[in-house]
Amino acid sequence: MTWRASVLTLFPDMFPGPLGQSLAGRALQSAIWSLQPINIRDFTTDRHRTVDDTPFGGGAGMVLRPDVVDAAIASVDDGRPLLCLTPRGRRLTQQDIRRYAAAPGVILLCGRYEGVDQRVIEARGMEEVSIGDYVLSGGELPALVLLDAAVRLLPGVMGAADSATEESFANLLLEYPHYTRPAEWQGRRVPDVLLSGHHAAVAAWRQSAAEHITRERRPDLWAAYTSATHSAPVASPATAP
Ligand SMILES: C[S@@+](CC[C@H](N)C(=O)[O-])C[C@H]1O[C@@H](n2cnc3c(N)ncnc32)[C@H](O)[C@@H]1O
Repeated sequence: MTWRASVLTLFPDMFPGPLGQSLAGRALQSAIWSLQPINIRDFTTDRHRTVDDTPFGGGAGMVLRPDVVDAAIASVDDGRPLLCLTPRGRRLTQQDIRRYAAAPGVILLCGRYEGVDQRVIEARGMEEVSIGDYVLSGGELPALVLLDAAVRLLPGVMGAADSATEESFANLLLEYPHYTRPAEWQGRRVPDVLLSGHHAAVAAWRQSAAEHITRERRPDLWAAYTSATHSAPVASPATAP
C-alpha cells in the first residue's frame, strides 16, 4: 500500500523539490509513497486570502491563524500521525522516523513567520517536532528532511534489504567508518583487518570502532547504549581508528 504524505504549507511549489530525485524520487514514481502538498492559503475565507495576523501581547512578526490552519488540516485528517514542525518541538530521532515509516503516512504542518497559533496545535493534538537546535525560516525544509528519512525506510526503497539495520542510530551507536579502494591513499592505509577477509574479525573491529566513536562524539548516545546493554563495553583505542 502506498505510504501517503500530506504537507500543509504556504509554499507548495517547494515540493517534491529534492525528493523528486534519486532514491525518494524513484520511489515516488513507482508509487511506494505519494506526496500531496496542500496550500494553506486555499482555506482562507476573506477577499485578501489572509493566513496570518499580529501576535496578541505584541512583538515582532506574524502568526498563522488557527481557523485557517484548522480548515486545512480538516481537509486531510484521517488518523495518520499529525506533526507540526517547530524548533520548540521534541528533537526528532531515528526511532521517531521508524514509527512514522511504519504508519500509513504522515500529515505535516509547516510554519512560517513567528509560527502557528498554539490553540490549533493543541486542539488537533499535534506532535510538535524539531529537526535540531537552530531556527530556519519555515517548516518546509524540516518537512523534506523528515520525509527523506522516512521514505528511505519504506520497503523496496533501499537496495539491500538490510542496509538500514547497521547504520548510525540503528542500535544506539554511530556507525563505524567506511573505506574503499585504493587500500593506501596519500600514505594512509586502510586498517589491515578490513583487508583480511576474516568476517568475524571485521565484525569485531566494526563493533569496537562504532563504540569508540560514539563514546568520543556522543556521550548522550553512549550512556543510553551502555545502560541498554547493562554493561560498559570498553572500546580499545588500539583497535579503533
Ligand atoms: C522563524 S521559525 C519560527 C521560530 C519561532 N518563533 C521560535 O522562536 O520558536 C518559522 C517556522 O520555521 C519552522 N522551523 C524553523 N526551525 C525549525 C526547526 N529547527 N525544526 C522544525 N521546524 C522549524 C517552523 O515551522 C516555524 O514555525
